Amino acid sequence: MLFDTHAHLNDEKFDLDRDDIIAKIKKDNISFVVNPGADMKSSISSIELANKHDFIYAAVGVHPHDVKDMTNDDITKLKELAKDKKVVAIGEIGLDYYYDNSKREDQKKWFIEQIKLANELKLPIIIHDRDAHEDCFNIIKEYKSDEIGCVLHSFSGSVELAKEYIKLGCMLSISGPVTFKNNKKTPKVVKEIPLKHLMIETDSPYLTPHPYRGKRNDPSYVCLVAQKIADEKEISYEEVCKATLENAKTFFNIN
Ligand code: NI
Repeated sequence: MLFDTHAHLNDEKFDLDRDDIIAKIKKDNISFVVNPGADMKSSISSIELANKHDFIYAAVGVHPHDVKDMTNDDITKLKELAKDKKVVAIGEIGLDYYYDNSKREDQKKWFIEQIKLANELKLPIIIHDRDAHEDCFNIIKEYKSDEIGCVLHSFSGSVELAKEYIKLGCMLSISGPVTFKNNKKTPKVVKEIPLKHLMIETDSPYLTPHPYRGKRNDPSYVCLVAQKIADEKEISYEEVCKATLENAKTFFNIN
């Protein structure tokens, strides 16, 4: 059984066949899915989706792309939303210096505010970091309370950075790009970092693993990420599934 720790099943790319995809998830040995929000609207629809399906859980938060219009009111609203029993984390939150859709100062401000909210609510955080490795690490190091968990979603950094995050007690979530032929960095991370620090995800509908790259992603493809980890570590596929499932259940406090 597998745990997809990051999928956006409320994305409009699933509008035409969402029910079919969700029915397929169960058949494909996926035990659990965490569906993070990316703005206020998708945080609400994540909760609605999670309340329709027992194996789907939600996270609420505002992605760095969308923090440009964020206000203190939104923090209050997120706090209310996080009371729902299916909300297991604050996310996805972080920094994106690749697209720079919001000013970097705004990105940092609202990243910190949302970490503070998670500390207060004692919920783990799901981090989006694209081309902002140094600022992201420093903010997590300074602001995240030791009492809460932290996962680097779709981790794309080096082995050295991975080791620094592990020292802080963070988890790394591995996604489709680990299977890409031109990706030399993430397979190395997967090989060197002990399984107890790893989780797996699809980031559906994005980041579709090889050999389906270019098509729409869905949680059933998380098995390809697990298989790649097994290959790199030279251990069985079953061992990867079992460990990443247990890691994620512990991380998100799901029984
Ligand atoms: Ni995402």
